[in-house]
Amino acid sequence: MKTTKTYAMAASLAVPTCFALSNHSQLQRGINLTFSVFSKLLATFTLLGYLTACGGGATANTQTPAPPTPLSVAQALFAEKALSASGQLACASCHTDDNAHADATGTTLPIGGVNMDQQGFRSSPSLMYLASNSAFRLDANGLPFGGFTWDGRANSRAEQAAGPLLDSAEMANADVAAVARRVRGLSYFNDFVSQFNVPAAATDQQIFEKLQTAFQTYQELDTDYLLFNSKFDKVADGTATFTAAEQRGLAIFNSPTQGNCASCHTSRNGPNGERPVFTNFSYAALGLPRNMQIQKNADATFFDMGLCGPKRTDLSARTELCGQFKVPTLRNIALTAPYFHNASVSTLNDAVGFYATRDIDPGRWYPTVNGVVQKFNDLPVAYRNNVLNTAPFGQQPGSAPLLSAGNVADLVSFLQTLTDDRTAPPGSPTVAR
Ligand code: HEC
Ligand code: HEC
Repeated sequence: MKTTKTYAMAASLAVPTCFALSNHSQLQRGINLTFSVFSKLLATFTLLGYLTACGGGATANTQTPAPPTPLSVAQALFAEKALSASGQLACASCHTDDNAHADATGTTLPIGGVNMDQQGFRSSPSLMYLASNSAFRLDANGLPFGGFTWDGRANSRAEQAAGPLLDSAEMANADVAAVARRVRGLSYFNDFVSQFNVPAAATDQQIFEKLQTAFQTYQELDTDYLLFNSKFDKVADGTATFTAAEQRGLAIFNSPTQGNCASCHTSRNGPNGERPVFTNFSYAALGLPRNMQIQKNADATFFDMGLCGPKRTDLSARTELCGQFKVPTLRNIALTAPYFHNASVSTLNDAVGFYATRDIDPGRWYPTVNGVVQKFNDLPVAYRNNVLNTAPFGQQPGSAPLLSAGNVADLVSFLQTLTDDRTAPPGSPTVAR
């Protein structure tokens, strides 16, 4: 209890004091440093120590704390471990700053739960570049677009936030009342009330909804979520040039008969010069290999089929959608290993290699049982026909690849130009014309 109180105090002071720093990334690192230092030195943590970590040696008497803002409060909530039943898991634990708000370095699949012993079965996606995503919809042809999470089952980032707060394998709160109780217990609860217009005598449900709003607000206001300052952006602005390998990679990426990547991972500017976010927020079934590191997969009858379930339940009758997952952004892809919804691929080289050799060399990706390669083994046999067979896929085993090993290397070189610079100011979301 004592330590929780100390932690809450540090967090509440961290918000206004750190926010006085002009450089936002510096602010974020200050807070992270504080949190990691804190977790190591729980008992001995002091206010002075905190200020040194955050403000670079400033003391309490020489700095007037900046007033709280919606962003400063929401950012603290995003990093707030006290919102989880275990007291050990914050949103930021699975969506880490240094990895484009995707998985923590070195993790394969997220771990959570009351006792921090429950493994999730999906990889934590990057939360960057979601501002132009929309609610889930089926278009005139019944094709799915938009939505949040790998299966699009949340219609907004606010709606999505309810998921991890209540998921028994994540922050594992028993119910809305448990979340509201934890929020009321935060030392900066009053700042939350003032910055998010929480009504006096708010009900548990109202507190929960305001918390959801705060998470959406954080992702909207923090410029770290839309940096647009990668080498790719600089080339678009004419202030950098691609190497020969990067240039070849981009051409392969865009070519409809070769990589065909851009047909899903949009690479062209929008009609008003909007920079591409490398996804059109559509859905596809790629037929990824089953990841046996997922504990649930020990049950041979368990399948994560994306749009048609089990996490999502409203489209289970649309069996032609089984196996489809949302196209993710490829911005910052070099930072977000492991890859794909089931974290079945560990390196970027192999993620691109999967596209190149899934069909010509399936034995590289799937296990062989009694001499037969178990292609698309992460889907029930009945749905394996749903898997995409057009470029860059669709070759017969042994035939000439659409993407050679050299092409894969060039594609990887190009994809590495999509990494933002978190130490530099954000670029404009549109290309100057
Ligand atoms: C235990 C790890 C974990 C924690 C904690 C966690 N997330 Fe996630 N997050 C995930 C995973 C895994 C997914 C993908 C879920 C799915 O597809 O079902 C995800 C998906 C998301 C998405 C959707 C991204 C997209 O591309 O559509 C958002 C937004 C998000 N999380 C925000 C949050 C917020 C806000 C919190 C805190 C309230 C949070 N997450 C806590 C692991 C986590
Ligand atoms: C038909 C649409 C489509 C095409 C074409 C396509 N992708 Fe993808 N891509 C997806 C989908 C859908 C996913 C997520 C699949 C999953 O996890 O089940 C994905 C995931 C990825 C990932 C992993 C992303 C992450 O965050 O884990 C990489 C890397 C990638 N694609 C690169 C490429 C490259 C390179 C090409 C061209 C050679 C390409 N893609 C072509 C739809 C497509």
